[in-house]
Amino acid sequence: MKELNLTRPDDWHLHLRDDVVLDSVLEATATDFSRAIVMPNLVPPVLTQKDAEQYRDRIKQSCQRLSGAAAEFEPLMTLYLTEATDANDLVSAHQAGVIQAVKLYPAGATTNSASGVQDIKKVYPVLEAMQKADVVLCMHGEVTDPEIDIFDREAVFIERVLTPIRKAFPELRIVLEHVTTADGVNYVQSQDRYQACTLTPHHLVINRNHMLVGGIRPHYYCLPILKRREHQEALVKAATSGDARIFLGTDSAPHVTHTKENACGCAGVFNALNTMSVLASVFEAANALDKLEAFTSLNGPAFYGLPVNSAKMTLRKQDEPVVFPQTLPCGDETLTVFDPGMPLHWHVAKSAH
Ligand code: DOR
Ligand code: ZN
Repeated sequence: MKELNLTRPDDWHLHLRDDVVLDSVLEATATDFSRAIVMPNLVPPVLTQKDAEQYRDRIKQSCQRLSGAAAEFEPLMTLYLTEATDANDLVSAHQAGVIQAVKLYPAGATTNSASGVQDIKKVYPVLEAMQKADVVLCMHGEVTDPEIDIFDREAVFIERVLTPIRKAFPELRIVLEHVTTADGVNYVQSQDRYQACTLTPHHLVINRNHMLVGGIRPHYYCLPILKRREHQEALVKAATSGDARIFLGTDSAPHVTHTKENACGCAGVFNALNTMSVLASVFEAANALDKLEAFTSLNGPAFYGLPVNSAKMTLRKQDEPVVFPQTLPCGDETLTVFDPGMPLHWHVAKSAH
């Protein structure tokens, strides 16, 4: 197949940051995606309805420089859950249509998570209010217990944190984000329609060998960390299964190049520019191009209770590899674009509102 038409996709997990980084990265997402769930881990974090409104307005302002479909990009805002979150403010932000979801970061789990949750029981009253008001909870699913090996943190989170939350709040809609293990996708697929997960393009195409064999590749360092190949294969199987609970969240997470190529490098893969090309390759290799649209464009809106985009996208396959820039400018610095380490032949040929 040389051409594929699909509903224009959305990104259900995205970091846009703020200021100069926001202005540098927004176009990459807005060109290919109609909407994105925007992560609240700014410094300081997006804590209140007012913070979310102001951040949304800064994103919309930045959009005004763009043209065509990109100018119509719709940010779907989130609040950063802390032990001090005011449930009334949260519910009001949701009812006013300002936020679509709330994000749980276990304190210390990842970039800018210091204000996250230390004792999960302390936020149970907020989760209760969210269940009642039907607000989606997005989770960074890793424990931070120093005794737990970094490669096991997702599986242990499911056992220690997610399973009790599911029991206590059976009708709370939960997205286990950027799942990286067979344990994660198996858990989600064993649950009911209140439990979903997102998968990133990078966890579908690379595993820890790509990051660590023959030299350390800091641009592949992200959290949750890449796992062994068997897990990667389980993720591909899940992504291409068509299961309505599984959808795309790129976790595109820009950090300027020198902060990644560093003795203590930041976690995050900046993949927004080539996500659709990477995914088309993965789905084609799995003989599942017919399932791509469900993963990128249909399952997410269904879970969030939002309309499917009416706009379309055409992906086209060409003989010679598609050339993407290796970096994007970001003020005086650069952002290094995700290199999947294989030739990409699919590209977005047409995308319009
Ligand atoms: O690799 C990651 N980068 N994982 C996260 O959970 C956060 C993100 C970021 O904000 O840089
Ligand atoms: Zn993220």
